[in-house]
Amino acid sequence: MTNAIEINDLHVTIAGSHILQGVSLIVPSGGVTAILGRNGVGKTTTLRAILGLVASSGQIKVFDHEVSSWPTHRIVRLGIGYVPEDRDVFSGLTVEENLRLAESGAEVQYDEVFSLFPELKKRGRQRAGTLSGGQQQMLSIARALLNNRPLLLVDEPSKGLAPKIVGEFAGVLERAAEHSTVLLVEQNLSVVKRLAQRIVVLDHGEVVHRGEARDLDDPTLVRQLLGVTGAA
Ligand SMILES: Nc1ncnc2c1ncn2[C@@H]1O[C@H](COP(=O)(O)OP(=O)(O)OP(=O)(O)O)[C@@H](O)[C@H]1O
Ligand SMILES: [Mg+2]
Repeated sequence: MTNAIEINDLHVTIAGSHILQGVSLIVPSGGVTAILGRNGVGKTTTLRAILGLVASSGQIKVFDHEVSSWPTHRIVRLGIGYVPEDRDVFSGLTVEENLRLAESGAEVQYDEVFSLFPELKKRGRQRAGTLSGGQQQMLSIARALLNNRPLLLVDEPSKGLAPKIVGEFAGVLERAAEHSTVLLVEQNLSVVKRLAQRIVVLDHGEVVHRGEARDLDDPTLVRQLLGVTGAA
């Protein structure tokens, strides 16, 4: 198998707005592919469409299965872990309980998760709502990694985190990418440059650039595509 995901001419309309306007992209198996783009261009919607969480038209293949008409539970069973943008931990439950609820299938790897996030082991009995933002993000990623899935969709893991903690997350995702394919939505260019091999840039619901992460070394291109200086 060469590609984990193949998307062809994907359209999504929500509440009368044409949000994805013919997105086509390929996520090869192995390593990290990053989706970049300004706020509100459709990055999260692309991940949600892959998971069948929003209605779409066009073609979406995951591990060679045409999944666009499948319900979410069937798509996820192909082996997808999802780290949503807003973390979404159960704040009234403990860290342990959040992890237990995420268990699915036979291959649950607590040892791996606790070696990546020793802090979560220490805080097993603490209610998730009382964790810091960074710790909640750890828990959210830990839930996705618990089941050793071959494909991870990760939406802006660095958002709102202190720079030192961002580095820790990048290390965790780097390790996860050794045995899973990662599709990462990320606006932090230094994280993308560290982790990703390939990039896809969205603008107004369309792909405006596909290439290699090293394309981000070109400040003119970065300014043109993302409207930032590239110094991030
Ligand atoms: N449920 C919804 N109802 C109405 N509009 C929506 C909905 N979900 C997304 N949108 C709109 O679709 C557009 C794309 O949203 P999306 O969340 O995919 O962007 P994004 O690239 O992930 O942005 P951000 O960088 O802010 O996370 C935005 O204009 C957003 O307001
Ligand atoms: Mg988003």
